Amino acid sequence: MSARRTQVAIIGSGPAGLLLGHLLKAEGIDCIVLERQTREHVESRIRAGVLETVTTDLMHRLGLDERMNREAMVEDGFNLADGDMLVRIDIKALTGKTVVVYGQTELTRDLIAAAPQRELEIVFEAQDLALHDVDSDQPSVTYTKDGVVTTLACDLIAGCDGFHGPSRRAIPAHLVREYMHEYPFGWLGILADVPPCHDELIYANGPRGFALASMRSTTRSRYYIQVPLTERIEDWPEDRLWDELEGRFNGISQHGVTRGPALEMSIAPLRSYVFETMRHGRLFLAGDAAHIVPPTGAKGLNLAASDVHYLSDAIIGFYRRQDEQAMLGYQAKALSRIWKAERFSWSLTKLMHSFPDQGPFERRMQMAELDYLSRSPAMQTAIAENYVGLPV
Ligand code: APR
Ligand code: PHB
Repeated sequence: MSARRTQVAIIGSGPAGLLLGHLLKAEGIDCIVLERQTREHVESRIRAGVLETVTTDLMHRLGLDERMNREAMVEDGFNLADGDMLVRIDIKALTGKTVVVYGQTELTRDLIAAAPQRELEIVFEAQDLALHDVDSDQPSVTYTKDGVVTTLACDLIAGCDGFHGPSRRAIPAHLVREYMHEYPFGWLGILADVPPCHDELIYANGPRGFALASMRSTTRSRYYIQVPLTERIEDWPEDRLWDELEGRFNGISQHGVTRGPALEMSIAPLRSYVFETMRHGRLFLAGDAAHIVPPTGAKGLNLAASDVHYLSDAIIGFYRRQDEQAMLGYQAKALSRIWKAERFSWSLTKLMHSFPDQGPFERRMQMAELDYLSRSPAMQTAIAENYVGLPV
């Protein structure tokens, strides 16, 4: 048994936990990040890769944006396609803002690599984590590492432990409301060291459903296609997937699809989910622990960053003024932005996918909406300002 103390116990070393840890440390607030997985596991997870200003601003504020500035690709626009119709959304002209292509994996690596020099402690392989007394002013977290059980006493707990973590479940069920919407398909993704087929992202719909051409760099591509939830990765030999991607993108892309060996292939389900409340006593939730968006629009990581933006302000205010009032505004601010990102991801998902129960009428509605979008600067602006991220 061992006993330790810190000011803020942060559960989870995904982008939410790591960004929060660095922001608090930069203000002299003591914190420890507790992570169930190994460092190697965390650093090799493949996730989305489009960053809004809220995320790049946090990296800049932390002084951890050097590699990102060097390697990331700045995107002035993206494309929505249906069949052979390609509509370019000029986000820079419409909003004055851009997005940045930089993998979540790279951002996570930068944050972990900088931890020792910033004296941010990350405990990897912290097993059997449990939260205690979260509604008292002396909460704690217990975990086991290398066979030793540690009790970490703290002032506050930040639950940044993703969709499957224990933090959310530490809030009594009668105090919460869950909102869930599941989609009847998943995304099959492939990562490969081949040049992207287009200089900007293409979200494509068509009679065969959704496909996305994305990238990580000028030499690394990321593609996805919509697949039924019953499909297994074994159903998709690489050549079958490349055939499908060529069929979808060769006619509409600048360079055409280049094939190459897969570095990673995986299938992920799509869901929308919001957990209200994001605070119970001294426990605060942030990121995927409190909400999930379907990946259409790449809002997951950016929402985690905006939660952390608000939560770090609240915690810093609490320590500066020694006043719990500073923390009252967190969930209202966070949820107001979360619901709008939920709406955008849901509407873009509905516009760009084939639904099993979709008839010819619903298909025509999708085509009419994209046709309208192609001619309406007002509608393009609405899409663009959501894509670059609503203000924090
Ligand atoms: N104990 C400690 N850590 C845990 C536990 C636990 N019991 N359960 C989960 N975790 C860790 C996970 O291993 C993971 O590293 O919490 C972390 C949560 O990280 P993410 O899932 O990346 O969530 P978040 O930081 O909110 O980032 C949101 O990342 O997951 C993507 O699609 C998501 O893009 C979105 C963004
Ligand atoms: C990705 O590059 O992985 C990606 C890009 C945009 C999305 C989702 C995923 O909307």
